[in-house]
Amino acid sequence: METTISIEDKILHGKNAQSIRKILKERTPKSFEIKNKGKKVAQEVIQTVRLPHPVYMESAEGGNMTDVDGNTYIDTTMGFGPIILGHNHPVVREAVDKQLNRGWLFGLPGEAQFELGELLCDASPCAEEVIWANTGTEATMYAMRAARAFTGKSKIGVFDGAYHGAHDYALFYATFEEGTNDKPNGMYVSSGISDVIKNDTLELLPYRNEAAFDLIRKNKDDLAAIILEGSQNSNPRLNNKDFLQGLRDVCTECDVLMIMDEVVTGFRVDYGGIQGYYGIKADMATYGKITGGGFPVGAVAGRKDIMAVFGGRGGDKRIFHGGTFNGNPLSMIAGQAVISHLKENKDTIYPSLMDKGNRLTNEINKFCEENEYPAQILNAGSKFHMKFQRESISNGFDIKGYYGGEHKQAENEFYLHLLGHNVMVPGVRLAFLCDAHTDEDVTTIIESMKASFEAVREDGLF
Ligand SMILES: Cc1ncc(COP(=O)(O)O)c(C=O)c1O
Repeated sequence: METTISIEDKILHGKNAQSIRKILKERTPKSFEIKNKGKKVAQEVIQTVRLPHPVYMESAEGGNMTDVDGNTYIDTTMGFGPIILGHNHPVVREAVDKQLNRGWLFGLPGEAQFELGELLCDASPCAEEVIWANTGTEATMYAMRAARAFTGKSKIGVFDGAYHGAHDYALFYATFEEGTNDKPNGMYVSSGISDVIKNDTLELLPYRNEAAFDLIRKNKDDLAAIILEGSQNSNPRLNNKDFLQGLRDVCTECDVLMIMDEVVTGFRVDYGGIQGYYGIKADMATYGKITGGGFPVGAVAGRKDIMAVFGGRGGDKRIFHGGTFNGNPLSMIAGQAVISHLKENKDTIYPSLMDKGNRLTNEINKFCEENEYPAQILNAGSKFHMKFQRESISNGFDIKGYYGGEHKQAENEFYLHLLGHNVMVPGVRLAFLCDAHTDEDVTTIIESMKASFEAVREDGLF
């Protein structure tokens, strides 16, 4: 009689599974020590893989990051996206060094916020004016508030598979756990959020599905805005143009504002962000990440008549906006340095990022297909996300589980092996290439991924 061996047993007795754990443990003693000392932080930032202990970082340069034990990795975290030129880039360091000598927080405004504002408005198709905040979370929160104030309507349309940050209105997710392909259901991803948000303030919409158009039409009297990523983190791709154009048209028809969340896509997929890439103009857009050049930033940009609600020109519609660190000199100066560099070099940087991301994706997808590995990479140029399933993915309804579904443990093993090859992929699995990554780096990532798939298969995990 054939006995089935559980995945846990395969890992426990797997030659490769055990040897990679031993190797990683032996080469990270300082990280182990830090983990045992550090008890006062309730929750650390998301770790890369489920090692017995996390790996702590000490420095980063170009496309690499080095941990406290001196192990250097090809980094695909890129600070969760902001680092587009590479770590410790000289244009940023020079600008920030200069500013540090002059002081780093004044409260009162400095000229740099106007200069970065000009750059953002020049790059972003919808931006006539901009306001500064400190994170993408703040940006989406302010954009929703502004939309409500401007339209006098209460609801915001949000899509399945979206991420818009950590405030209350961003944490009631549209999902397909119990919904249909045409109408997602809702799910809180955090406790402590009032039911008022679920019941009265959000309309859940399906992404890459025209059923969303009719839902917007049906709810137009209550809908202030829809907010969306033009290429989702959970489903990166660059073939959304027809869907986005359809949304643009229906929003115009129904007097519903379109807010493009460009926190990740801004300056990433194209100098003009996802709006520039597709030639589609939203009414408002939110920015963060790259816009601050690696320092904390958030921004809302948009049509002048809507942005008036921030500036006290909105009369009764005026909204509150404030923050100790808004427009702080370091973020403004660093952002200015990076965006100016991107502007000057956009004709080389963006095609090169696109080529590197596409080569990685195409080679791995071909390898997985030929060898029947249950995995595929989805990418929007240099932003990519590996999904552990063979079935093709069009929208969130097709995604089997955020962290690999049935291949969850195999996925974790894969990333352990990849770390063993000194390739760092963040715990959220959304990864990025930067301008400093060389073609050789991309080849190393590809070869390391192939070897990691093989090691996991050898242990019988897929
Ligand atoms: C699309 C999108 N919007 C908003 C946010 C929130 O930005 P932050 O983490 O700076 O608050 C993120 C963060 O990853 C994001 O990916």
